Amino acid sequence: MITLTETIDVPRPVESCFRYVADFRTTVEWDATAVEANKLSQGPVDQGTQFSVRCKAGRGHLNLAYEVTEFVPWQCLVLEGGGRWFTVKDVITFESLGNDLTRIHYVAEFTFRRGLQRLATRFERGFEKMGQVSMERLARALKDDNPPPEASQDTQRRDGKLTSALPCFTRYGYRRGQKTWRPMTADMTGKHVVLTGANAGLGFATAVSLLEAGATLTVVARDPAKAADMQHAFKAETGREADTVELADLSLLSQVTSLSERLHAQSQPIDVLINNAGALFNDYAETAEGIERSIALLLLSPWKLTESLLPTLKNHARPARVINVVSGGMYTQKLRCDELIMTPDEYNGSVAYARAKRALTVLTELCAEVWRDHNIVVNSMHPGWADTPGVQTALPGFRRVTKRVLRSPAEGADTIVWLARASEADQVSGKLFLDREPRTTHLRPRTEERPEERARLLDWLTETYNTLHLNDKG
Ligand SMILES: NC(=O)c1ccc[n+]([C@@H]2O[C@H](COP(=O)([O-])OP(=O)(O)OC[C@H]3O[C@@H](n4cnc5c(N)ncnc54)[C@H](OP(=O)(O)O)[C@@H]3O)[C@@H](O)[C@H]2O)c1
Repeated sequence: MITLTETIDVPRPVESCFRYVADFRTTVEWDATAVEANKLSQGPVDQGTQFSVRCKAGRGHLNLAYEVTEFVPWQCLVLEGGGRWFTVKDVITFESLGNDLTRIHYVAEFTFRRGLQRLATRFERGFEKMGQVSMERLARALKDDNPPPEASQDTQRRDGKLTSALPCFTRYGYRRGQKTWRPMTADMTGKHVVLTGANAGLGFATAVSLLEAGATLTVVARDPAKAADMQHAFKAETGREADTVELADLSLLSQVTSLSERLHAQSQPIDVLINNAGALFNDYAETAEGIERSIALLLLSPWKLTESLLPTLKNHARPARVINVVSGGMYTQKLRCDELIMTPDEYNGSVAYARAKRALTVLTELCAEVWRDHNIVVNSMHPGWADTPGVQTALPGFRRVTKRVLRSPAEGADTIVWLARASEADQVSGKLFLDREPRTTHLRPRTEERPEERARLLDWLTETYNTLHLNDKG
């Protein structure tokens, strides 16, 4: 048997350290050998929760299956696991030293399978080294002092050409990005997040991660039956439901306004607003308020919601965050305000969608500038290509061709979660992100907007909204 014993002191409250370590998926962020970790059981982490961990072992890999066999919140965790070479028992104890300082004591006992004991003696020194490095990495992760995000040289080079930028949209792009990510250990307890479009696809995956991270979550959905199913699914997945569910059809500006009034009435400041709800409409239709529905849902709605919520987002001790979910489709279009509302004759769903998303990307940059003094950071992200109900319904042909390279909803949602949660993500504003890195907003020079179009966008939004209201009254 090899026994490793390590102790670290970290400047974090004991609850926060316990929550982070107990979710053993985080091993990929600190363990010296873990490259992939998954939670196999549904529900919150507790006694009986099972994980699979894939570790580097020489030139190959070793798969380990773990189960939490003891779970005493804020005090002790025991995980027992095994693979083809050994079984392992991890006993991790947590002690609060006061002043938000925590001592973590880690004992790992490896018992090699019959006939492999000699191997154990040979590798003892290597195991000790691996234990030390892992605990140093855990201490660093929990210190949570990552530098501000910036694009790597490789990413900048890829963004220089359409042919190298597009593969980044696939699951392989996600895997590439993942290799350089830093630990995301911020605890969201006490942070209030408002998320639209939470009952499906990327929004659902985002909500699950944020609930697991302890956020206070207000979700917006439009269908009461879907909202009820969503709450059941949240409970089954995380042991929690969203704290508040608001119903609103976000393609109707009157409902956006009444939603923002209800959110004001909650009198709970908003730390993070995620404008995620969206859809690609292949056919032309107008909303009951008389406006083409793509532009209503994808641009006017997030603009109006964010602007109306400004008083509850303003002047926090740490910056409030606004996250606009856009799309790589916007790379095909140039901002021209007069072309944002398409007529039935010229309507093409993908073009209308891409134009609205392009305008939302520019709006993100404009708002970031205007709201800097209010301590609000505004960023956009695009998820790449993810296999969600939205893609299945609106783009069946695209899905058929790209199915093997599409991301999972959780992979597509990862950067939304990171922008909402990571401590370093509030140190930049006005950027477009993919896979936790700022990316170019133009892949071809011909999509760069003229300065006068850019300057006009905010006025265009106000004018269009006012016209709508006139129509409404008329
Ligand atoms: N998946 C991708 O590859 C991809 C790529 C680029 C960008 N995006 C963007 O990512 C976001 C999420 O997309 P997704 O793929 O996760 O789509 P999804 O699976 O269709 O989910 C969209 C969510 O938005 C909600 N929603 C749609 N219209 C609404 C309305 N009028 N009022 C209120 N809620 C409404 C939907 O509610 P219902 O269930 O009631 O319809 C659903 O919860 C969208 O902004 C989309 O444009 C996705």
